Amino acid sequence: MASLDTSPVVGIDFGTTNSSVALALPDGSLQFVEFPFAGALTRSSRSVLYMQKKIGVGKPASVWSGPEAIERYLATDNFEDEVQGRLIQSLKSYLAARSFNGTEIFGRHYRVEDLVAKMVGDLRRRASVELGFEVTRAVVGRPVAFVSADNDSDNAFAEERLRASLLQAGFTDVRFAMEPIAAAHTYAEGIQREETVLIGDFGGGTTDFSLLRVSPTERTVLGTTGVGLAGDAFDAKIVHYLVSPALGSDSMARSLNKVLPALPAWVYANLERWHTLSFLRTRQVMEMLRTTQKRALEPEKIAALIAVVEHDLGYRLHQAVQRVKIDLSSQDATEFVLETDAVSLREAVTRAEFEGWIAPELERMERSLDDVLQKTGVAVAQVDRVFLTGGTSLVPAVRRVFASRFGEERVVSGEAFTSVAHGLALMAANKDA
Ligand SMILES: Nc1ncnc2c1ncn2[C@@H]1O[C@H](COP(=O)(O)OP(=O)(O)OP(=O)(O)O)[C@@H](O)[C@H]1O
Ligand SMILES: [Mg+2]
Repeated sequence: MASLDTSPVVGIDFGTTNSSVALALPDGSLQFVEFPFAGALTRSSRSVLYMQKKIGVGKPASVWSGPEAIERYLATDNFEDEVQGRLIQSLKSYLAARSFNGTEIFGRHYRVEDLVAKMVGDLRRRASVELGFEVTRAVVGRPVAFVSADNDSDNAFAEERLRASLLQAGFTDVRFAMEPIAAAHTYAEGIQREETVLIGDFGGGTTDFSLLRVSPTERTVLGTTGVGLAGDAFDAKIVHYLVSPALGSDSMARSLNKVLPALPAWVYANLERWHTLSFLRTRQVMEMLRTTQKRALEPEKIAALIAVVEHDLGYRLHQAVQRVKIDLSSQDATEFVLETDAVSLREAVTRAEFEGWIAPELERMERSLDDVLQKTGVAVAQVDRVFLTGGTSLVPAVRRVFASRFGEERVVSGEAFTSVAHGLALMAANKDA
């Protein structure tokens, strides 16, 4: 049955790292929903949740999303024992994980859908206020391949979970569109002639490709491919090779009359997925860390790890890692710096080292690029333009893959953080798209 709701349809990019909402207005212009953050307005909202609970108080935890979550988190002294906080990021990456149906936080079970619903519900409320009508209808982006999806059925499962979250959050009319096709609509807005265009969208969680034949009035999708890794995977490499060794991942400790690795690898795996760092903050783990510190050959490194866990420095650690990655997008070398009252870490790093660490990921991204060319039967010489977008497209090594394959002159980039929401809004306005 056709919906009686005739309110405008918005485009929503629920990203792994950043989310945006846009609306194509009848006069052909585009309105982005803006979010207040740190005294300014931004067109994207960080895809994070912060939950906080006072110990011993029976009330349910308070939950914030987006910029507010970060501000609340930073304003709380997480070292105070009576307040417990949990930051949750990259939730989109769990949508396809069938084994992960939720998580226990402060003694209550939250389904993935509940947590995503909180995020998209806050986006909907903010959009309704900004746009001046009750937002209930949306074209929502999805990656070609969700993180950890192994097949079509996993992707369909993830999409259904995302749909359930959106309905739970008050949306009534939801249509999905592939993110790299949305980005293609943004690119094609400005073209003058018919072209074959390859779109590469490199985000936080996923890398997506689409190949289209576009003209000023027509868009024909030739094919799409994707792989569930992007900027988050690069961050994990920086933690693994640069940060974790400074916190004792290569250190040894005395055990009876032997010298053995100080701590098990899973401790450091929790650092790589930085938002799981707060899960280490249990009595049991803290005891293990303190005992290890006494036996460690480099006790100062384990002490630094204890400080990071005890003071719940996951977000600051992540910010410091992001800084390294962003610096290396424009410089040949930089320094990882984590300076707080509790810990002081400094580690030099070069772009060449970083590129060595991410080589396997770049290789997998390139295989996905090969797949889309092969699947569509389009030869490299037939591609007129390559449009790169998404935050991770700013990494020089990513761009180089395309410059060397297609030639610098064919590669363009733009709207790194908003091209998907922009294109979704165009698709929402055009019912045939
Ligand atoms: N200057 C930069 N250099 C390198 N990486 C960057 C830069 N700026 C942002 N990033 C990275 O870009 C990623 C976020 O990009 P984007 O907002 O496009 O992702 P997303 O849309 O949230 O994720 P996805 O599309 O995978 O769901 C993060 O991993 C971030 O660290
Ligand atoms: Mg994206």
